[in-house]
Amino acid sequence: MVVLSGTKLAAEIGASRSAVWRFVEQLRGMGVEIAGHPATGYQLQSVPDLLLPEVVKPLVKGTIFAERLHHYFRIGSTNAEAMDAAARGEPEGSVFLAEEQTAGRGRGGHSWLSEKSSGIYCSVVLRPEISPADTLAISLAAGLAVRAAVREVTSLVADLRWPNDVLLAGKKFCGILIEMNAEPTRVRYLVLGIGLNVNQSSFPSDLKSEATSLRLETGRTWSRVELAAALLKSLHREYRGLVSGRGKPAAEIIRRFEEASSSARGRQVRVEEEGGYEGITEGLDASGFLRVRAGSGVRTVISGGVRTIG
Ligand code: BTN
Repeated sequence: MVVLSGTKLAAEIGASRSAVWRFVEQLRGMGVEIAGHPATGYQLQSVPDLLLPEVVKPLVKGTIFAERLHHYFRIGSTNAEAMDAAARGEPEGSVFLAEEQTAGRGRGGHSWLSEKSSGIYCSVVLRPEISPADTLAISLAAGLAVRAAVREVTSLVADLRWPNDVLLAGKKFCGILIEMNAEPTRVRYLVLGIGLNVNQSSFPSDLKSEATSLRLETGRTWSRVELAAALLKSLHREYRGLVSGRGKPAAEIIRRFEEASSSARGRQVRVEEEGGYEGITEGLDASGFLRVRAGSGVRTVISGGVRTIG
């Protein structure tokens, strides 16, 4: 990394030296490590691992996600932003990436902790021609896509917990939230949001026992850019396979999900719905819902909130 004098930088971009200093301060505020000051010149300490469209776009060329990438250093929620944009006509395949979320949304009204530049906070706009009942398959497919991307980049083999939590060593490092605008028989648009814990080195005490990151599991940091690109490519493959209409795509997703999930069959679970109950999992039904054998017979889990016990 070379040292560049403030005077040279100023001349090249046609600005004053004090303007260059202000730009450098702004970049530092965004987390870019730059050593030096106006008198000595500036030196980039490391290439920042920022999810900038200019960086991610060429890596996802050939996918539906290569056309429109939006990036935010700080935002409330990429899902909220993508939903608003979709309502205004944002096309299928648009991607919303953030370095930090101040109001990250989780499933069931929970929040999603979104520490600055540690995780991947990504939402994509999709406009599949399906009914709302069929979106569960998209949700399961997204879990499979995350699992494949993480395996490709890190060689780690993650576990899936229905409907779409992604786990390592029994702890969650990735959550998926689908929000949609639909008529009873037709989805107008949906937003698929993925939160992936990559380089977090710790979690608050109330999350410690159930949350983890790739860094905590491997003892090293990972490139968020590489992971985000692998994720979008893998999501493209799964989504295309699902909406292509060839064969029985949803049945295939359900079969692969069951295979990738250690808790989909034969595990004692607690289900947090209808007052809560316990039972043994019996795989997924033809629509992708989890079946649990409880005292009263086989029940179908509708809204999630499944914990393995014992
Ligand atoms: C879950 O509760 O498991 C789902 C978490 C989903 C979090 C992601 S982060 C990117 C996108 N924007 C949000 O506000 N939420 C999703």
